[in-house]
Amino acid sequence: MSRDLTVFAQLGLTAPIIQAPMAGVATPQMAAAVSTAGGLGSLGIGASTVEKARDLIRQTRMLTNRPFNANVFCHRPATRNAEKETAWLNLVKPEFERFAASPPKELAEVYRSFLDGGAMFDMLLEERPAVVSFHFGLPTPSQIKTFKGRNILMLATATNLHEARQAAAIGMDAVVAQGWEAGGHRGCFDESAEDDQLGTFALTRILAQELDIPVIAAGGIMDGVGIRAALNLGAVAAQLGTAFIATDESAAPIAHREALAGESAQHTCMTRVISGRPARCLANRFTKWGKHIPDASVPDYPVTYDAGKALNAAASHHGDAGYGAHWAGQGAPLSRAMSATQLMHDLISEIQAG
Ligand SMILES: Cc1cc2nc3c(=O)[nH]c(=O)nc-3n(C[C@H](O)[C@H](O)[C@H](O)COP(=O)(O)O)c2cc1C
Repeated sequence: MSRDLTVFAQLGLTAPIIQAPMAGVATPQMAAAVSTAGGLGSLGIGASTVEKARDLIRQTRMLTNRPFNANVFCHRPATRNAEKETAWLNLVKPEFERFAASPPKELAEVYRSFLDGGAMFDMLLEERPAVVSFHFGLPTPSQIKTFKGRNILMLATATNLHEARQAAAIGMDAVVAQGWEAGGHRGCFDESAEDDQLGTFALTRILAQELDIPVIAAGGIMDGVGIRAALNLGAVAAQLGTAFIATDESAAPIAHREALAGESAQHTCMTRVISGRPARCLANRFTKWGKHIPDASVPDYPVTYDAGKALNAAASHHGDAGYGAHWAGQGAPLSRAMSATQLMHDLISEIQAG
């Protein structure tokens, strides 16, 4: 049973709330506000350079003396396929042309996997955040052994029982049960495998029943009522991402905040045309374009992201926000714009009100 609270007792958390790591959206200010309020704040350093990641950790440490989490991406390094990538550039070309722009001549792997080189690992060992979490897969047994030796707690995302069992067997301290409702990238270990698209409710319950390590529920949880529901299902905490996008401390661009505050919040969809991996996004012109694109024609993650980012830059330059990576979960209409400290205060009151 996953009712083992050791992992959180060890960290001294007073609220069963993890602010999700969100590359490009979470900030040291956000993570520090959440940790100071008794939850676990997180930094998303998966798409950062090692230097930038180190700086984010140091900034957070200056803002709080509470524990926080640094999250990296353990995706399978991209397999390059020149023919496929050229075909992709030709496919997106007409979208660039709407903005009198051209796609890049060739695509680049815009950031590396944690599994692909040791510099990020070395930096984490030096900086020693209290918690490190992994998305898209698991670190190596030797990395895990070293983290454990430094008393760094480890969390990993799982989208099904098979992945969760692998995470538990390799030594993760807790698993994040990421439901289909969740905003941002799906943490599937193998994005080309059949996806059962389990929702947060069923997945949390299944993992809580089957695993001996604690389970954290993630996906569509926006308030204290949702957090209580997750706890009732056997989770020890809830991980909330979308709920923090509109906070004052968020690095989300105005276009993302505006989409979240408007009618678009009612319509999220899973798409892989932006980055190369399935991710839940507020529906926009780009996701609509991508609806009929076969998965097999999309180049590997994060190579596809290179074109996605360039297209968004071209569109934004012309005042068109319809191509942004506006990740959000199905709970988007419940988003609240306020400070992260106030949101934590409200979430804790809502949990207690139950
Ligand atoms: C804007 C955004 C960015 C995200 N980036 C990351 C990330 O860098 N690493 C990660 O493990 N999860 C990331 N996620 C997924 C979250 O960890 C979590 O699974 C999700 O936010 C939960 O669903 P919710 O958004 O409905 O709360 C991101 C989610 C969002 C909304």
